[in-house]
Amino acid sequence: MAGIKVIMNGAMGKMGRAVSAGLCNEGDIELVAAIDVKTSETDYGFLCGIEPLGFSVSSDLAAAIKQHKPDVIVDFTNPQAIMANIYNAVSLRVPIVVGTTGFTPADLTKIKGWCNEYDTAVFVAPNFALGAVLLMRFSKEAARYLPNVEIIERHHDQKLDAPSGTAVTTMEMISEVREVLSQGNAQEFERINGSRGGDYQGMRVHSVRLPGYVATQEVIFGGVGQVLTLRHDAISRESYVQGVALAVRKISDLNGLVQGLEALL
Ligand SMILES: NC(=O)c1ccc[n+]([C@@H]2O[C@H](COP(=O)([O-])OP(=O)(O)OC[C@H]3O[C@@H](n4cnc5c(N)ncnc54)[C@H](O)[C@@H]3O)[C@@H](O)[C@H]2O)c1
Repeated sequence: MAGIKVIMNGAMGKMGRAVSAGLCNEGDIELVAAIDVKTSETDYGFLCGIEPLGFSVSSDLAAAIKQHKPDVIVDFTNPQAIMANIYNAVSLRVPIVVGTTGFTPADLTKIKGWCNEYDTAVFVAPNFALGAVLLMRFSKEAARYLPNVEIIERHHDQKLDAPSGTAVTTMEMISEVREVLSQGNAQEFERINGSRGGDYQGMRVHSVRLPGYVATQEVIFGGVGQVLTLRHDAISRESYVQGVALAVRKISDLNGLVQGLEALL
């Protein structure tokens, strides 16, 4: 039986390679092409550290869609490129699983419109690691009782967007159960701009960017005489494969724009 045919977009990137290598181990998924603005003549399997796949990385997503007729596109590119990539996929009526982060509310509204216009699903998740999804869920629960909360997220220093998509989603989920609350001393002041981090409805978020990290998030809740810390570490990019494979399998059952791995669990 032929597998679910997937094109990886952003194939040369850290996530593209790691997720491609993982998807190739899934018996029911077949990687049929690898696309990136940076191309390579080398067999893509070698670039991913797995057996040869018989194709290299090319740069034209629309041409690859027409040639390979994929069931799904998986995208791990960057916030500048993602809207055009989604339009490319959806306008050719190919569902797309998006790991790329950095969407604005206006972007999401636009994507919903494209999904309706072309009757094609888009699945977007800021974090495909199951542990991170649980961290977000538990954070929402904790915030009901401990509304004073700050987030510290740590990523490698090549990440473009800050705060991370996971941090934004965590704050959005917490704000569903937490009234807007100004935290800290009303008279506090910053001796260096940004010292208190970003402010989302009174919650503070701090983005660390250093070589060596993959992705870590701590959600810290302060109460009288106690502190609760919830933490998730993505130790390697293999942690994302299971979630991406799940989305690849389920997207044919979805309609419109669906957000968050929790929607599939
Ligand atoms: N959802 C998740 O679980 C998750 C986890 C980690 C990272 N991310 C996100 O995934 C994205 C990629 O992360 P990364 O660490 O692999 O970045 P990266 O910079 O290593 O890779 C991005 C790749 O996209 C390519 N690219 C850029 N524009 C393109 C275009 N128009 N068409 C095709 N390819 C293009 C680049 O050449 C590069 O090879 C980021 O937005 C990051 O925040 C998501």
